[in-house]
Amino acid sequence: MMSTTQPIDPLYNPKLRPIIDEIIEESIDLDGGLMVVLNNLQSRIGYLSAPMQEYVAESLSIPVSKVHGVVSFYSFFTTIPRGKHVIKFCIGTACYVGGINQLIDKARQVIGVEPGQTTSDGMITLEICRCVGACSQAPVVVVDEVNIGRVKPSRLEKIVQNVLKEEAAA
Ligand code: FES
Repeated sequence: MMSTTQPIDPLYNPKLRPIIDEIIEESIDLDGGLMVVLNNLQSRIGYLSAPMQEYVAESLSIPVSKVHGVVSFYSFFTTIPRGKHVIKFCIGTACYVGGINQLIDKARQVIGVEPGQTTSDGMITLEICRCVGACSQAPVVVVDEVNIGRVKPSRLEKIVQNVLKEEAAA
C-alpha cells in the first residue's frame, strides 16, 4: 500500500554523523570496544547499516568481516531500521510447544510481513526471539518489550489493533 522510503544512511546524515563519531571515539581504546560501539550505535541510531559497519571497522582498524560477524551473530543488532513498534514471538521450547508457530502464521496474515521484516509504513516490525523467561505463560508474544502470555491466534489481531490504535491516539 505505501511505498518504502529509503532514508539517507545515518553515516551521511549531518545530524547523526557526529553521534556516530562520538560513540566511536568514546570506546575506541576500550577492551571489547567493538561490542560497546555496536551496542551504543544500535541503541542510539536504531540500526547498523552496511556503511556504518564499514566505518566502525575502519575506525577501530579491524577487518569489516569481524564487524559483520558480530552484527549477524546477535539478534539484538539490526542492519535495517526497525519499525516504530516491534512484535516479537518467543521461539523457546515452551512457546514452541505452546503453539507459537500458529501465532507467527496469524501475524503473517494480519500484518502482511514475515518475521524480520517491517511494514512498508515503518509502523510494525515482526521478530522472533529466544526464551524471555515467562515460560509458564507460553506462548508469549512481546509487544514493545511487554510480555503478553497465553496468546491465542484469535487474540493476535486484537493485539495488533491495539498497537495501531495507541499510535492513532498518540
Ligand atoms: S520459551 Fe517462551 S518464554 Fe520461555
